[in-house]
Amino acid sequence: MRVRCRPRHAAGLAALAAAGLALAGCGSIDSSEADLQAGKRLFIQSCGSCHALQDAGTTATIGPDLDDAFRASRDAGFEETQFAGITRRWIEIAQAPMPRNLVVGQDADDVAAYVAAVAGRSQRSAVRPPPNLDQAPRDATATIDATPSEPDEGE
Ligand code: HEC
Repeated sequence: MRVRCRPRHAAGLAALAAAGLALAGCGSIDSSEADLQAGKRLFIQSCGSCHALQDAGTTATIGPDLDDAFRASRDAGFEETQFAGITRRWIEIAQAPMPRNLVVGQDADDVAAYVAAVAGRSQRSAVRPPPNLDQAPRDATATIDATPSEPDEGE
């Protein structure tokens, strides 16, 4: 697969990686040609036995809940094309127990575009609720000092 790295995506992708999404590629796919209905059908068939995704009505817990996986990044304003690129890449380079290339070609694009379109839009997870900052220890809500510190001597 040809992976394109566009500089304008660099910051967002770094943040996605920091948000805990295992990110092995740096491309995004053009999902404007994707068939979301086909993607949904294929997702239920090929992915639903392991992944929960509210829009698809799947509830399996072998793999991560994909609403939870993408929610924080969606809330932070990342683009759907980036989610599609990550999902497409996962399909190709999946780690066991997730089999690789369960769907290929246009089917894979359709699944990736479908996941990107719906994941993380569901209600907040009941399994792992978002942090309640009011009840967090004081340290966790302390204002971050953004002033760069002086480099250590010798660097
Ligand atoms: C046999 C079970 C299984 C199937 C089928 C499966 N997955 Fe997975 N998937 C997993 C597991 C387990 C992980 C976590 C792997 C890891 O963290 O190393 C995962 C991870 C992922 C991730 C990354 C989630 C994250 O939190 O970063 C995505 C995206 C994903 N799968 C999409 C899919 C799609 C799309 C399909 C269908 C084409 C699919 N999976 C089919 C088990 C499965």
